[in-house]
Amino acid sequence: MRIQILCFVLASLSAAASAAPDPSMCDVLPAAPINANVVYEADIQTIFTGVMGAGAQCTACHSPNSSGNLSLAPAASHGNLVNVNSAQDPSIKRVLPFDAAGSLLFRKVNCAIPGVGNRMPRGRPALLLDQQRLIRDWINQGAIKNAIFAANFE
Ligand code: HEC
Repeated sequence: MRIQILCFVLASLSAAASAAPDPSMCDVLPAAPINANVVYEADIQTIFTGVMGAGAQCTACHSPNSSGNLSLAPAASHGNLVNVNSAQDPSIKRVLPFDAAGSLLFRKVNCAIPGVGNRMPRGRPALLLDQQRLIRDWINQGAIKNAIFAANFE
């Protein structure tokens, strides 16, 4: 009886964590972090905004038009991502700190079928594997914004 109750509690907990459909057809990334201390502005925002005017990758749609109700403009992106429910499926966070696999942002750049909506950047070639790894490592390191704060606690 006690075991049955425990199983029920565990099942409820895992369902509450994320009921979003599992992703599939994901790119396989090397397990090792690409960088031990990913810097949000330099490493992550640069992917969203596009490198040195080479053409915005994400902000073409996610600022100022905010597809998916998500702006990835520099001043807004971190606050719009971390611990914020997906607009498309509120059962999953856009970014859940320390859990890239459980974060919709990572699923959407890593998987051809993200489970919720389409792969990003939508209708364009997938991000490079190194860019996907930076996003994964940043989330798994806690999805911190302030690089100086992060560096102080190495
Ligand atoms: C051509 C337009 C377009 C581009 C480019 C694009 N997106 Fe999107 N994005 C959308 C649309 C439309 C949606 C909502 C529907 C869907 O999933 O396709 C969306 C949804 C999202 C969501 C889910 C938002 C939510 O709350 O459910 C995330 C996260 C996201 N995009 C991240 C990105 C990232 C990161 C990039 C760049 C690597 C990117 N997008 C590039 C159009 C775009």
